[in-house]
Amino acid sequence: MSKKLYVTTAIPYVNGAPHIGHALDYLLADVYARYQRQLGNNVRFQTGTDEHGNKIFDKAKNANIPIEDYVKENSDKFRNFIKKLGVEPTDFIRTSDTEHERRVQLIWEKLKDHIYPADYEGWYCSGCESFITEKEYAENNGICPDHQTPYQKLSEKNYYFRISDFKDRIIEAIKNHELTILPESREKQVLNLLADSPDVSVSRPKKNLSWGIAVPDDDDQIMYVWLDALSNYLTVLGYPDNDISEYWPADLQIVGKDILRFHAIIWPAMLFALDLPLPKLILSHGYVLANGQKMSKTIGNVIDPLEVIDKYGLDPFRYFFLRHVDTFEDSDFTWEKFGAAYSGELANDLGNLVQRLAVLGSKNSVKLPSELATMLNNTPADTKYVRLMENYEFSKAFDCAWGKIQQINKDINDLQPWAVAKTDPAKAVAILTDLIISLLSANKLIAPFLPETSAKILSIFSAETIVPPEPLFPKN
Ligand code: MSP
Repeated sequence: MSKKLYVTTAIPYVNGAPHIGHALDYLLADVYARYQRQLGNNVRFQTGTDEHGNKIFDKAKNANIPIEDYVKENSDKFRNFIKKLGVEPTDFIRTSDTEHERRVQLIWEKLKDHIYPADYEGWYCSGCESFITEKEYAENNGICPDHQTPYQKLSEKNYYFRISDFKDRIIEAIKNHELTILPESREKQVLNLLADSPDVSVSRPKKNLSWGIAVPDDDDQIMYVWLDALSNYLTVLGYPDNDISEYWPADLQIVGKDILRFHAIIWPAMLFALDLPLPKLILSHGYVLANGQKMSKTIGNVIDPLEVIDKYGLDPFRYFFLRHVDTFEDSDFTWEKFGAAYSGELANDLGNLVQRLAVLGSKNSVKLPSELATMLNNTPADTKYVRLMENYEFSKAFDCAWGKIQQINKDINDLQPWAVAKTDPAKAVAILTDLIISLLSANKLIAPFLPETSAKILSIFSAETIVPPEPLFPKN
C-alpha cells in the first residue's frame, strides 16, 4: 500500500549565495524522495530559506540594500540552485512569508506554559545564531571554531524556554528509538549534550535584534531565530491552522552535523510542548571540505557549485556528491578528485558500457522482449542495495549499484559478444540481450542518484531499434 512520507531539509541562511556544502541536504533528501516514489509512495519534500537574524540584517545593511530585497534575492538563488541540482521538492518556504510569521506567533502562544522571562548574562555567536555556555566559551577560548570570530558578550532581558520540562523525555525517546539519530556516534554526543543542557533563551530585545518575528504581547522582544526557523517544518504543512497528521511526524529530517544539537534538543522540546510526536529519524551528514579545509569566504576556498555543474553537467555533480561524499562523514572535494571520478568512473564504467552495448545491440539487431518493462518492474531489487537504502546508507547503496555496472563491464569482456557474433549470431544476440537487461536492472538502482542519465539509458534501450547515442559523458 502506498505510504505518505515527509522528508525535510535544513533551511539555509540567506547571507550569501549557495556553496557546494549546501548541496548535500538537498541531494540526500532527493535520493530518498526518488527512491520512495519509485516504490509507489507519496513523498512530501520540504525546502526553504532561513531569513531572519542580525547576521543577515547586517549583511544587507553593509551592502546598502533594503533587507526585504536582499533576502528575496538570496532566497531566489537557493530556489534556483535546488532546480539546478535536479532536485524536485514539493515545498519551498521562506521564514519571512507572512503565513509562516503568523503561524510561528501561534506556536509561541502554545509554548507559553514553558516560557519565562529572565536576564541573560553570557555569550553569543551570531555566525551560529547560538547562545554559548560558559563551558563552551572556555573550551573554545572565546572564539567560535566554526566562524573564527570572538563570541559576543550579551547582557539583556530574554524569554527562556524550559528545556528541563522535557529533557528526560527526550533522552528516553532517543534511547528507545522513538527518535533515531544517525549516525549512532552522533547520537551519543547528543545524549551527552542533553544531560547538561540548560534552559534556552528564545527571544532577544528588539533593540539588539530587529529583523525577526515579534513576540506576541511584548513589544520589546523578537523571537530567537532558531525557534522561528525550526517551526518551518510544521508551518509549511499549515500548522497550527491545519491538521498535519497526514505527514507529521516526519519520516526523515536531514541536517548537517553542526546543527544537529538544535534539532536534537530545542526541536524535540518544542514538539513535546506542542503535544506533537517527534520525527522518526534525524540524519546528520558530515561536511564537504575543500582541499581538506572547511570552506570559508575568509580563506577564499569556497567552491561555486554552479561552476562545477556548468563545466561538467548535472549528473556528474550528483555522482560525485552522492558517491564520493560519504553520507555521514566529512569528505573532501578537489577538482582533481572530481575530474578523476568523471573520466575514470562515470565516462569509463558507465558511459563506455552504454556506448558499447548500444553499438553492439544495433549492429546485431537486438530486439528486447516486448514485456521488458513488466520484467524490470517485477525483478526484485538487490537485497544488499535495498538494505542500505532502507538504512539511509545512501553513498554505500550507490557503491553497491555501481558494483553491478562494473560487473557488467567484466561480463562483456569475458563473454566477448563481438567475437561470438562472427560464428554464432543467435548466441551473440542472446548474450547481448542478457547484458542489456542486466544494465537496465542496474539502471533502476542508479535512478534515484542520476535521474537524467538513467532516463536516457532507459530510452536508448527501450526504443524500437537501438541507436547508439552521443557519448553520455564526453571528454572535457
Ligand atoms: N539556517 C540554519 C538551519 C536552520 S534549519 C531549521 C543553518 N543554515 S546554514 O546555511 O548555515 O546551513 C544550511 C545547511 O547546510 C545545514 O544543514 C549545514 O550543515 C549545511 N552545510 C553548510 N556548510 C556545509 C558544508 N561545508 N558541508 C556540508 N554541509 C554544510 O544552519
